[in-house]
Amino acid sequence: MANRLFATKPINQIMAEAAGGGEHGQSLKRALGPINLITLGIGAIIGAGIFVLTGTAAAQFAGPAIVISYIIAGIGCVFAGLCYAEFASMLPIAGSAYTYGYATMGELVAWIIGWALVLEYAFGAATVAVGWSGFVSNLVSFFGVALPFNPNPKFAVSLFGHALAGQVDIFALSALVIITIILVVGVKESANFNSAAVMIKVSVVLIFIGLACMFAFGHWPHMKANWHPFIPPNLGHFGQFGWSGIMRGAGVVFFAYIGFDAVSTAAQEARNPQKDMPFGILGSLVICTGLYILVAGLLTGLINFKDLNVAAPVADAAHVIGVGWAVVLIDLGAIAGLASVMMVMMLGQSRVLYTMSRDGLLPKWVGQLHPKFCTPYKTSIIVGIFAATLAAFFPITLLGELVSLGTLLAFSIVSIGILVMRAKHPEMPRPFRTPLVPLVPILGVVVSLSLMLSLDAPAWIGFGSWLVFGLFIYFGYSRHHSKVQQSLPEKAIAGD
Ligand code: ALA
Repeated sequence: MANRLFATKPINQIMAEAAGGGEHGQSLKRALGPINLITLGIGAIIGAGIFVLTGTAAAQFAGPAIVISYIIAGIGCVFAGLCYAEFASMLPIAGSAYTYGYATMGELVAWIIGWALVLEYAFGAATVAVGWSGFVSNLVSFFGVALPFNPNPKFAVSLFGHALAGQVDIFALSALVIITIILVVGVKESANFNSAAVMIKVSVVLIFIGLACMFAFGHWPHMKANWHPFIPPNLGHFGQFGWSGIMRGAGVVFFAYIGFDAVSTAAQEARNPQKDMPFGILGSLVICTGLYILVAGLLTGLINFKDLNVAAPVADAAHVIGVGWAVVLIDLGAIAGLASVMMVMMLGQSRVLYTMSRDGLLPKWVGQLHPKFCTPYKTSIIVGIFAATLAAFFPITLLGELVSLGTLLAFSIVSIGILVMRAKHPEMPRPFRTPLVPLVPILGVVVSLSLMLSLDAPAWIGFGSWLVFGLFIYFGYSRHHSKVQQSLPEKAIAGD
């Protein structure tokens, strides 16, 4: 029984599926070069994290030292990114972390990663939708339009308070409904759309950095006063400022880095995955880390951290700079940029569920395609309703922490997977090798687990309940329908 739970998916079967020889395999076009892959990564990375969570995390946990939180989270991501790069160059397949887990540590672990990836993608889309709503309402109020409802109820009340009071984030809900409809009718994000969204986002971030630097030169005492004390003293509880607050902030802003792993899902479409996958994953990560550190530092200099717990902190900072057009520009950039992150996340979600259904771990209808639109429409609709409900009722901090927990679990397992793969298949060619093994994967696990431990109790309760719910489904359904299990001889042993 135990051996069956750890039965791995044979590498040659994975490679056959990657080459288009699998049961449902399609030959994807190898059209993406290194720059496309970096663009894809930045497209999935820059979103609600930098535009919204920087403000909430600075206000509640770290103060101006949110910059240090960004550095810690960035270092953790580089360790995990190096591990992803080895897997993505070695097994250039679309399933990403779920498939790496299936190949190395067996079905139960793969199921747990797949289930945790729902937290990353579906909960992630919901989190970004809440951030998106903040920028839309900011833009609406900039033009003096009075709304008959509170567009961002969750920024005004405590955890669950708004849900109990029946306050609904209407903009966030609408965004996910529209994106679900687009996904169902099959309007796919083309490479051009993604490149345009990335150009808008990166330009807006660079314009913000430029304007803020100019302001800083003219108003140095204002910036200096806001940066002091750089690490506000701890208020007596873990996570409320001080070094524990920096760690808690790192756990929260880790969300801003999520997405570099999405590059690995495009491995089958890369022209030269062996070389370009590591370049795309690590390149997008390094560029975003630099931008994030600058934005976080300047934001906390422009506005006192105590006033940053608002829906659209970066746009508010443009008010301080006193450039009216920058407020509109930042709002528009964030609205376009966050919409593309939501789209990529919802697409990523359907891709992971599709792969799990193909492996028999989820019912066949989950991966069923629409006869006309050729999209996994049933999954898209269910995921859309689920994410829209989350976005409508839950606050961005709780959602973001759940996303971080799910993603960090996947990162830890991918890092351990590198060690397992080196031991089990030392002979396989590795076009990119994670340096300093076992140190880097071990540090990847240690940093990921530390960030997980720094997160709050409500998020852990949600995370634990989600995993337990997932295990019920695995033992009640998936184990009995798994194709790998069905192909095993009676006295199966682990390994392939
Ligand atoms: N990293 C993405 C964001 O910040 C998920 O929105």
